[in-house]
Amino acid sequence: KGILVSSLRNDGWVTLDPGFLTTAQCESAITFIDGRRSILRYRGYPIEELCEGSNFLEVAWLLIHGDLPDKRQYDEFRERILHHTFVGEDFRNLLSSFPRSAHPMSVLASAVNALATFHPDTCGFGDPDGFEEACAIIMAKVRTIVSLIHRRRRNEPLLYPDETRGYVEDFLRMSFAIPYEPYQVNPLMVQALDKLLIIHADHEQNCSTSVVRVAGSAHANLYSAVAAGINALSGPLHGGANEEVLRQLEEIRDSGLGVRAFVEESKKEGSRISGLGHRIYKSYDPRAAIAKKWLYAVMDDEVSQLGSADRSLFDVALELEDMALHDDYFIERHLYPNVDFYTGLIYRAIGFDPQMFTTLFALGRIPGWIAQYHEMMNDPTSKIGRPRQVYTGPGKRDFIPIEQRR
Ligand code: ACO
Repeated sequence: KGILVSSLRNDGWVTLDPGFLTTAQCESAITFIDGRRSILRYRGYPIEELCEGSNFLEVAWLLIHGDLPDKRQYDEFRERILHHTFVGEDFRNLLSSFPRSAHPMSVLASAVNALATFHPDTCGFGDPDGFEEACAIIMAKVRTIVSLIHRRRRNEPLLYPDETRGYVEDFLRMSFAIPYEPYQVNPLMVQALDKLLIIHADHEQNCSTSVVRVAGSAHANLYSAVAAGINALSGPLHGGANEEVLRQLEEIRDSGLGVRAFVEESKKEGSRISGLGHRIYKSYDPRAAIAKKWLYAVMDDEVSQLGSADRSLFDVALELEDMALHDDYFIERHLYPNVDFYTGLIYRAIGFDPQMFTTLFALGRIPGWIAQYHEMMNDPTSKIGRPRQVYTGPGKRDFIPIEQRR
């Protein structure tokens, strides 16, 4: 479905393809998706196997460098990231200058953009050493920045990174630990978040990644291109959907309407159910299957840790999922729960508030954006992104001075 028109303009043929339904902007060896068969592979490795046996840092290396790292490469990569984990006082002052109530995605995009001003020597396009350094800086500092944004929103003192801990474990410590008290790691939450970061790590030419590539095609530096990607990701039709899903589940629960009535109302109004549907996956989203598995594990863990868990939103989600799978409207349009349908409930169980959810998606997507930028930077056939248009405005008109206009 869509409009595909080739039209001969004065200066050649132009193809009109709104939303780029059938237009590839590049060749890529990074991520393979078969939307009909629900296959997702990074560099040839099925996402399920990576979630089973790998971790986020290893997957980040895989995406950026093309193959799984050996032990030495992994240790060096980890070291390099840990080396950049700390953010200095000037940078913290910059973060503090934003209103506490600002949306975390706007703060994150601004902060990543600002990294270029603190690390100008890593901004050269096509400079391999500068690129490796910028890559480690972004991987390291985005994690710290997201935890700082989270603590600042809660009026909590900022915590310094602890280089002896793992990437995800220390992220959770920086986000949730109480100063001067020993931090109790919940290994299940560390595992769950690690898996969520893996399933978000790349998704070929989605909206935000295309934005990163197009910005980078003008030789904008990596920080600027990633910041552009973060801004695109913030939209509720893209990464912002995870926040929207939770808001919607709360709305359904609190309205007392029940899921069916809510869905019928949405259909009547022509509004969308967040977390359903995907441009590419028309049977199911394989990332959603993994997220769902971890959501069940996290819910069980809450019950075993606390004796009970607030299942009210989880129950609404299950009912909504069941409806989507059996309602003709959704079946005919191939609208299945996507990855965002389940992740918000996991982020919530970990302790993040909904406005933070999309920053966690962004943290996961960083390696994918870097890998795609890197591939484009090294592709000799790469050109500046410059789509065409089909002009529909008026023909030539004579200018009328303002005094003579009626
Ligand atoms: N709820 C209800 N109806 C929907 C939904 C939805 N979530 N998604 C699509 N539809 C309907 C459309 O209204 C349209 O119906 P029609 O044929 O009667 O006009 C039909 O399904 C096809 O919709 P399109 O907009 O053509 O689908 P597209 O592939 O362009 O959009 C998208 C995909 C943006 C993900 C869409 O399904 C959507 O808006 N979903 C909700 C937001 C969401 O969950 N986004 C996260 C995506 S995953 C990610 O970014 C990681």
